[in-house]
Amino acid sequence: MRYSRIAGTGRYLPERVLTNTELEVMVDTSDEWIRARTGIERRHIAAEDQTTLDLAEQAARQAMTAAGVGPADIDFIVVGTTTPDVVFPNLGCLLQERLGVAACPAFALEAACSGFIYALGIADRFVSGGMARCALVVGAETLSRITDWTDRSTCVIFGDGAGAVIVQPADEPGIISAHLAADGRYKDLLYFPYGPSRRRRPEDTETAAIHMRGNEVFKVAVKTLESIVDTTLAANNLERGQIDWLIPHQANIRIIQATARRLDMPMDKVVLTLMDHGNTSAASVPMALDVAVRDGRIKRGDLLLLEAFGGGFTWGSVLLRY
Ligand code: ACO
Repeated sequence: MRYSRIAGTGRYLPERVLTNTELEVMVDTSDEWIRARTGIERRHIAAEDQTTLDLAEQAARQAMTAAGVGPADIDFIVVGTTTPDVVFPNLGCLLQERLGVAACPAFALEAACSGFIYALGIADRFVSGGMARCALVVGAETLSRITDWTDRSTCVIFGDGAGAVIVQPADEPGIISAHLAADGRYKDLLYFPYGPSRRRRPEDTETAAIHMRGNEVFKVAVKTLESIVDTTLAANNLERGQIDWLIPHQANIRIIQATARRLDMPMDKVVLTLMDHGNTSAASVPMALDVAVRDGRIKRGDLLLLEAFGGGFTWGSVLLRY
């Protein structure tokens, strides 16, 4: 049987750092409130002339270097993003052209903060099924472009960035299992109200920005993530406490702490980047993975649980041996 494994990781964060203290002069908030309620201290914001593609390209190049592969090796590209540069060509195609990758499947998928988990789950199927030998999997976002910077209930949370991995075939897992889910009944708790087919009309009062009923999202996120980690452990006959590292979506420190408690994991076994990155949606999990791989915490052979939850609602997990 053939499996897939992560052969290399990369990330890119825009240079500009926006601190909580700077936000204090933009909206009625405080550094203390943001830290206490979310755990976030700062976030990166893309420059005027930078797009999601630019961020994705940098992260992809890093992952390719880490895996020792070039454009000629890549035969599958998937990008999780809610903030593509344009409606089409899709961001996968734009990235393919930028990197100089030859004809292969290349697409973007939109599953909000779960975009990377969905993308990784799909890439695993292609690689382990023998339909691809070198998949580039990216999560990239410029959420700052769809954030209302006068709305304190959302603007203190989000940031920009990109993370990427290269997935290649392996004789042993690798990616052990992926669990993807969604429930569209929650569509009104977290959304962006407009799109190409539902354009903003003069009578529409909602801002063209992220709308979130934070407290309600919070409660469902905690419950759902507890359930997905239970599902993942049960599907693999694992006991709580057997996971080496939890790499959670970086939305809120209190949500992450609840998931860690469910897994009986001390917080020093949880990779945390949200204090420095904020919530970067589909980019958050691959960036956190890359941080812990590059600083030496995550080693080959470690058992990792990646999980995410986002608008839709969508959610998912990937269990893998690094
Ligand atoms: N500064 C100061 N006060 C604030 C701020 C702020 N930035 N934002 C809200 N408040 C106030 C509210 O007005 C409210 O005041 P009131 O009690 O006088 O009415 C009070 O703080 C509490 O508001 P809540 O919304 O109940 O605050 P909560 O503790 O729930 O924290 C937060 C808000 C951080 C948004 C939290 O609910 C959260 O993290 N939710 C989940 C977000 C998430 O996981 N999203 C999914 C992924 S995102 C994606 O898919 C794109």
